[in-house]
Amino acid sequence: MLRALSRKLDIPLSDVYSTASFYKQFYFTPRGKKIVRVCTGTACHVRGADEVLNKIEDEFKINPGETTPDLAMTLETVGCIGCCGLAPVATINEDIVGEIDRKKVDKVIESIKK
Ligand code: FES
Repeated sequence: MLRALSRKLDIPLSDVYSTASFYKQFYFTPRGKKIVRVCTGTACHVRGADEVLNKIEDEFKINPGETTPDLAMTLETVGCIGCCGLAPVATINEDIVGEIDRKKVDKVIESIKK
């Protein structure tokens, strides 16, 4: 894709690569249909984010930064998504899920699988 873009824009491949590798919004591996971000910021950490993250990791057998082999889901961690009062918090694509306890994490996992 970078080579095609380089040819189309008549820009050296090294410049295209530099830009793509600089910005975090560009990815070099396929992303999942659902992007799940578990907040591991201070408020969420204190209120059990690790437990939420570990459960999702165990369920889908992936670590943060990885995508399931079927490209259904990419798991990421974030520093804070700005709703600390709802900690622990995760997002599934654009949807925010707050106050995740043991029961809710199972629902989160089910919604990821749908
Ligand atoms: S620390 Fe998790 S939302 Fe702020």
